[in-house]
Amino acid sequence: MGVGKAWLLATVLALALALSTAVEGFHFDEKDLATEKSLWDLYDRWQNHHTMRTRDVLEKLKPFDVFKDNVRYIHEFNKMGKPYKLGLNKFGDLTPEEFRQKYAGYKIGHSALHHEAPKRSQLFSHVNVTDVPPSVDWRTRGAVAPVKNQGECGDCWAFSAVGAVEGINHIKTKRLLSLSEQELLDCDTAQNLGCSGGIMDYAFEFIKNNGITTESNYPYTAVESGACDSDKGRSRATVIDGHESVPSSDEDSLLKAASQQPVSVAIESVGRPFQFYSEARLHLHHLLPLRVSRVLRTLHELTGA
Ligand SMILES: *[C@@H]1O[C@H](CO)[C@@H](O)[C@H](O)[C@H]1NC(C)=O
Repeated sequence: MGVGKAWLLATVLALALALSTAVEGFHFDEKDLATEKSLWDLYDRWQNHHTMRTRDVLEKLKPFDVFKDNVRYIHEFNKMGKPYKLGLNKFGDLTPEEFRQKYAGYKIGHSALHHEAPKRSQLFSHVNVTDVPPSVDWRTRGAVAPVKNQGECGDCWAFSAVGAVEGINHIKTKRLLSLSEQELLDCDTAQNLGCSGGIMDYAFEFIKNNGITTESNYPYTAVESGACDSDKGRSRATVIDGHESVPSSDEDSLLKAASQQPVSVAIESVGRPFQFYSEARLHLHHLLPLRVSRVLRTLHELTGA
């Protein structure tokens, strides 16, 4: 895989990460890891930093073990000279399993994500794209809305779909709108499972059939309200004509698609490098222990706005 390709893929991944969680570091050093006492002090400082409610000692003991393990992992990882760093963010006392359950849409399995990966690349609308540039950063072209935080809700599917729609909407209309994940969370409930997970295809179908309103009109709460506010939903900001999958296991097609528009991706977000990712660019070959989902979505032909 050439340098150009790696770069472009990394850009796509960086976008997905930006969409998934806004992380911020909390500094600590070797001294904090020296003794149980210093680790406990660090744990206290970390809790105050993230302004969590005060917990009594018994309540803190079990997460303390997890916290210690995570702190040591982050410390060792950052010494390994990888091109990206991990940080002690607010997920510091969660096991990878707890992190997955709270944030990664755990009820939707891989099989569901693979349900309709196309085989025949002739049907792919960007199949005839030729001169793919060595790099594209859709952020600098104004097609990416500011980073959002999905909060404690496994609705990455909604953020992923909305990010792609914001991108194609900007490309087609020259207007960058921040669109409503909450509308999807509350209203796109026929197949998607809200904070327990979902699939971008269904979200795209919903947006195709109903359009989608703006973030400011239908703001994000990170909670499934259990009721769709159809009054808010009625004021559509944009709508899409359709969506399609990039052919699976086909990097050339992914390059073609990503050079034309931001694509929506689902990535395996399990594991501590993702949980504690903090800065610098993640390169694909450094993610090899994790699997990148082969199903990547692309949208085309936006009408109306
Ligand atoms: C790509 O080019 C081929 C050959 O010219 C053509 O038959 C096909 O319809 C084109 N596909 C798309 C999606 O434009």
